[in-house]
Amino acid sequence: MSLLIISNTPTAKHNGWAQNWVKALHQKDPNLDIQIWPEVSDPNSVEFVLVWVYPQGELRKYPNLKGISSTGAGVDHILSDAKLPPNIPIARLIDPHLVHNMSQYAVWAVLNHLRGFEAYAQAQARSLWVPRSLASEPQVGIMGLGQLGRQVAQQLYNLGIKVIGWSRSPKAGADMQTYHGDEQLKVFLNQTDVLICLLPLTAETRNILNQSNLKELRKGAYLINVARGEHLVEKDLLAALDSQQLSGACLDVFQTEPLPEGHPFWQHPKIRITPHIASVTDTVSAAAQVLDNYQRALAGKPLLNAIDLTKGY
Ligand code: NAP
Ligand code: GLV
Repeated sequence: MSLLIISNTPTAKHNGWAQNWVKALHQKDPNLDIQIWPEVSDPNSVEFVLVWVYPQGELRKYPNLKGISSTGAGVDHILSDAKLPPNIPIARLIDPHLVHNMSQYAVWAVLNHLRGFEAYAQAQARSLWVPRSLASEPQVGIMGLGQLGRQVAQQLYNLGIKVIGWSRSPKAGADMQTYHGDEQLKVFLNQTDVLICLLPLTAETRNILNQSNLKELRKGAYLINVARGEHLVEKDLLAALDSQQLSGACLDVFQTEPLPEGHPFWQHPKIRITPHIASVTDTVSAAAQVLDNYQRALAGKPLLNAIDLTKGY
């Protein structure tokens, strides 16, 4: 009986990612048998996998697999595996650290833009004293009102910022104006000065940040994408910045990660880049949830935070 940790991203290898998981899981259960891919002693021994981005088809190699857990909130890296073994339950993480870190990032990015802190840093570099006037009642629109989007909305609201939201299904009782479904997307975008994307990546949401939707935002709007790079049509963002339909963007996620050398985003004066760190899983905080799901999978019980395959998130 073994839990296998798999990721083939360069960042994971670089920063001891798998070892951090082993340490956090062993703090909860010192006897847990853990293997780190690609060193697998016997594929038959693997009953549970904890995965970030991994080679397609890899999970077919474990005939006794009973459960799959993402190491993050998203599961697109699992569902995009064309050779995913069927009928194995899949869970994602829901964790307070993920929620807090995402809220902190979103508040920073929104304030950085709305209060013009970027411009003040540039002015200081030139010893310039240039007070700027503030936009009147700008409205932040959040795409995705799930675990992360709802908290981001709440934190911005607490700071006195006007917030609206858009989701797949209606949100009864939300204390902000909310919209849902394709038919209400345009009316949501038409009222948005700062757009935050916090959608899962699915067939419906891939490329949703495209020319035709970006043009529906208020003139000079600002884009914050903290969901997945594949939500954004990168050339459409560049065109929207050139035409001044958008005034800038803060991007944490990209079509290709790490963002390739020479990519036009790197040197773009209106684009702020961070390396997919908006909200990174805290292994210590999440270990109990993973261990619980490992035991549930072995016992044939439903997993915590299991995803809905029909929705794709
Ligand atoms: P979640 O709890 O599953 O919430 C997803 C939200 O998106 C829900 O409100 C859902 O609507 C909405 N949605 C899904 N499909 C939609 C569609 N077709 N049209 C309109 N709304 C749609 O997800 P979460 O935990 O908040 O995480 C969101 C995403 O953030 C993750 O999937 C991941 O990709 C990304 N993320 C990024 C980082 C980072 O560091 N950059 C960190 C963590 C997560 P309903 O409420 O109606 O279901
Ligand atoms: C990070 O991107 C996550 O999905 O948790």
